[in-house]
Amino acid sequence: MKILVTGGTGFIGSHTVVELQEKGFEVVIADDLSNSFIEVVDNIEKITGVKPIFEKVDLSIAEETRKLFEKHKDIFGVIHFAASKAVGESVNKPLLYYRNNINSLINVLEQMQEHDIKNFVFSSSCTVYGQPDKLPVSENAPLKKALSPYGNTKKICEDIIDDVAAASEINAIKLRYFNPIGAHESALIGEYPQGIPNNLIPYLTQTAAGIREFLSIYGNDYNTPDGTGIRDYIHVVDLAKAHVIAIERMINNKCLSKTEIFNIGTGVGYSVLDIVKSFEKVNEIKINYKIVSRRAGDIEKVWADTAYANDELGWKAERTLDDMMRSAWNWETKLRIEN
Ligand code: WQD
Repeated sequence: MKILVTGGTGFIGSHTVVELQEKGFEVVIADDLSNSFIEVVDNIEKITGVKPIFEKVDLSIAEETRKLFEKHKDIFGVIHFAASKAVGESVNKPLLYYRNNINSLINVLEQMQEHDIKNFVFSSSCTVYGQPDKLPVSENAPLKKALSPYGNTKKICEDIIDDVAAASEINAIKLRYFNPIGAHESALIGEYPQGIPNNLIPYLTQTAAGIREFLSIYGNDYNTPDGTGIRDYIHVVDLAKAHVIAIERMINNKCLSKTEIFNIGTGVGYSVLDIVKSFEKVNEIKINYKIVSRRAGDIEKVWADTAYANDELGWKAERTLDDMMRSAWNWETKLRIEN
């Protein structure tokens, strides 16, 4: 059974391709390589023994998307990761984000209708909740005004998906990720940020590797036990496995409605200092950090209510924070050996 994974050479996409192949799915990756590397395809093959089909495609261009679906008419389902995802960059370049993220979605959905492909899994984000009024945050929590154009594209895309599913044969499952971190145990695939990392973990591992002088901790005056921001960090492999379960749910016609939503987190919140201390303990490395002022747009604290995903989707995060810290460091050290 063939699954199209858009953005499949990216961080979460590549880990999902591995899990799909290990469950026997045939995978086509469509990626424009604007924020990832073609070597990921070979590294996936090293892990699974199977080389995924790779198509270099800019999905924001309708004609390129049409050609992709013309060539692969036997696609059973689509897992859609392809999007620009840097929160800070989206504030400076909103049109790039609206054009890329929304046009890509529209082109993919249009082609799915054209080729009678019914199954769609969408990479969404807890960022649509903003700062929840109640924690842990559940799927029926009210969505808040997005704090960045990136976050707003996720909300707009979710609305587009709802409307298209209601008007067509397409069934959609929207997975709202919390904070994906870590790497595959092989250290052959992982998070590969371009330039200075925006996210905590790559910046932390690059500090440990001596590439960054120190980690800036954005604020310790939040209303949290140690004053630093709290997030629900989830191992990228646990997140990848949720996508396979979502596809299998569709194969088995278990969906309860045309569009379903699941929070994909661990249900546990850790502060920035918790993360730093865990990393230091697991990897026996001291991290040089400085407390600096808050980062604009950051929320204070969020963690998932995972009951619905655990009970209805039949998925639960299994990997521990130590697993996440260890695999993140293994990946960083492997990267440094290669570069
Ligand atoms: C985590 C915590 C920071 C960097 C965003 C998007 C989300 C998803 C993941 C794409 C916060 C603190 C960070 C640093 C720090 N994006 N921090 N120093 O902002 O929770 O989520 O990225 O898929 O949709 O919203 O992730 O890793 O940037 O920050 O102190 O150098 O670490 O303040 O508390 P975030 P993050």
